[in-house]
Amino acid sequence: MTAHVRLPRIAVPDDAGRRAFLSDVIAGLSADPKQIPPKYFYDERGSQLFEVITRTPEYYPTRIETGILTEQAGAIAGFVPTGAALVEFGAGSLAKARILLAAASVKAFVPVDISAAYLAGEAARFSRELPGLDVLPVVADFTAPFVLPAEIAALPKVGFFPGSTIGNFEPHEAAAFLRHAGRLLGPGARLIIGVDLVKDPDTLTRAYNDAAGVTAEFNLNLLRRINRELGANFDLSGFWHRAVYNRDLRRIEMHLASRVRQRVRIDGHCFDFRRGETIHTESSYKYTPDLFRTLAAGSGWRLAETWTDRDGWFAVHALIMA
Ligand code: AVI
Repeated sequence: MTAHVRLPRIAVPDDAGRRAFLSDVIAGLSADPKQIPPKYFYDERGSQLFEVITRTPEYYPTRIETGILTEQAGAIAGFVPTGAALVEFGAGSLAKARILLAAASVKAFVPVDISAAYLAGEAARFSRELPGLDVLPVVADFTAPFVLPAEIAALPKVGFFPGSTIGNFEPHEAAAFLRHAGRLLGPGARLIIGVDLVKDPDTLTRAYNDAAGVTAEFNLNLLRRINRELGANFDLSGFWHRAVYNRDLRRIEMHLASRVRQRVRIDGHCFDFRRGETIHTESSYKYTPDLFRTLAAGSGWRLAETWTDRDGWFAVHALIMA
């Protein structure tokens, strides 16, 4: 049987995207405390900086999750039915899917990502590397409703959501995402999901305060993006990166803190900052296996299996639609 790759439609950067960005930034900076959704980190430079973060010595999640996937590839592949369609939510780093696809007998691979250009390049590479695999990319915001390719309608479905990206959702958003994934993949579906575990605060704090300052640059790049795309006048030297572990909420919080009293203008709006006032730019929730089991159960998924590293720093969970 011949494999095929269907190229995604190329999305033109549209005005609607800019308007949504502007309205989220205006609403977030009008709130108390000030905040901006973390999804806006990922312009081209932000995505590159994130890649560099994953290679810093302090940022352990990518390295450890990749280790679990590699060492447990056989066991994890056993959870994937033969001839299944693997649907990756937010195909930011296809390196992890590659490990799974090499070990399991998958018929079709459906990477879902907002970036059409990125998907086109990666999908073509995948089908060259893995002949026999149908690569069917979907350009979509994977947190919103979208339609799976008709070609996989009759195949068993397995979702794949690595990287602990679920940790960047508020718990109610994480529950909503799991429900949405369940509806999309259908009864009997399976989900393989990477989740960062609660651990000692020093290790967590170091992971978001790397010595080379890449995470700080990633955080500040958000202001650079707002200046460029929304015509704002943030002075980047007037803010600093702050990442702290909130033990009560079991989350790392990233903030941009104002060094001075200052006023920033964006599209006719003015925002005043007190000295030390912060913009909350990201939360990265950490879960114990039990807390994650409860979250998943509340969204219709049964936890079937969990693989962790020797130190218990990161978990790859296998869920079945109850
Ligand atoms: C993408 N996400 C899971 C990362 C995290 O660890 O929360 C984003 C990140 N922010 C700073 N460093 C990495």
